[in-house]
Amino acid sequence: MDKILIVGPASQILGIRIAHELSIKYVNTEFKTFPDGENYIRINIEDEALIAGKEIIIVQSTGPSSSGNQNARLFELLMMIDAVKRMSAKKIVVIIPYFAYGRQDKIFRPGESQFANLIIRILDSMGIDELYVVDIHAPEILEDTFSKITNIDSMEVLADYVKSLGAKDIVVVAPDKGALERSKAFAKHFGENVPVDYFEKKRDVKTGEITMSGKLSLKDKDIVISDDIISTGGTMATAIKLSKQSGASRVYAVATHALLLQNAKYRILSAGADEIIGTDSIDNEAAKVSLAKTIANYLK
Ligand code: R5P
Repeated sequence: MDKILIVGPASQILGIRIAHELSIKYVNTEFKTFPDGENYIRINIEDEALIAGKEIIIVQSTGPSSSGNQNARLFELLMMIDAVKRMSAKKIVVIIPYFAYGRQDKIFRPGESQFANLIIRILDSMGIDELYVVDIHAPEILEDTFSKITNIDSMEVLADYVKSLGAKDIVVVAPDKGALERSKAFAKHFGENVPVDYFEKKRDVKTGEITMSGKLSLKDKDIVISDDIISTGGTMATAIKLSKQSGASRVYAVATHALLLQNAKYRILSAGADEIIGTDSIDNEAAKVSLAKTIANYLK
């Protein structure tokens, strides 16, 4: 079956890279926001017959960016799926490299919505065939769906990049206990016996304020602090400061999705990080590592 990849507005670089890896045709979109705030998107084709009977791969991160917030990105994604369904695509594959609202997977305070789970239910109900996300915050929300849903692991390519920087005597540090299992898996990519440790992080559910504690044995070690998301950089910056206080030599701030909002870059670098490393799930300057090959391998 012929395949066409639709490069969503939020994944322009990654979308093209995946299409190149798969050696398939790709098309872009025309998108705008109407004066009343509603979103508009059109797949940039002149003839709907181009979509009919084909396997259509839609790539769209739903993270915030200069040209649209996550709500706009999510709506654009739903519209693209709806459009290719209406145009009789034979198979619909959706790739959401960064899945927005992924951290709203639990009820922290009475009266909240589990919105991450609802987004999965909406996508699952749209009759798509396959959905791929990358290092989603809470993979358990992907259980019990009709569609085939895969959580792609970006650790190998991120570790390869850190190794290429010449890091040695590595300790992988998780910024909280919740990230420990992920950090253990990440450490395996640096060698069998690479140590892993973690700080204790507490976040006030009302104010969002973070407190972190711990004294680790990091003297003269190169530290890789790994997390799924860097948002405002508060978590990462605090973990970097504590690592430096524990004697760390070089510190690499690594996250699959480095959103780098507000003062995040300043906070992380001024805390003592040597480099901020993210993937092209988010189109920004931290996207040192491409997910294209990894995603293409899953699709093959
Ligand atoms: C939270 O559990 C996530 O894994 C990240 O640690 C968090 O989203 C980072 O947010 P920020 O950069 O604002 O501290």
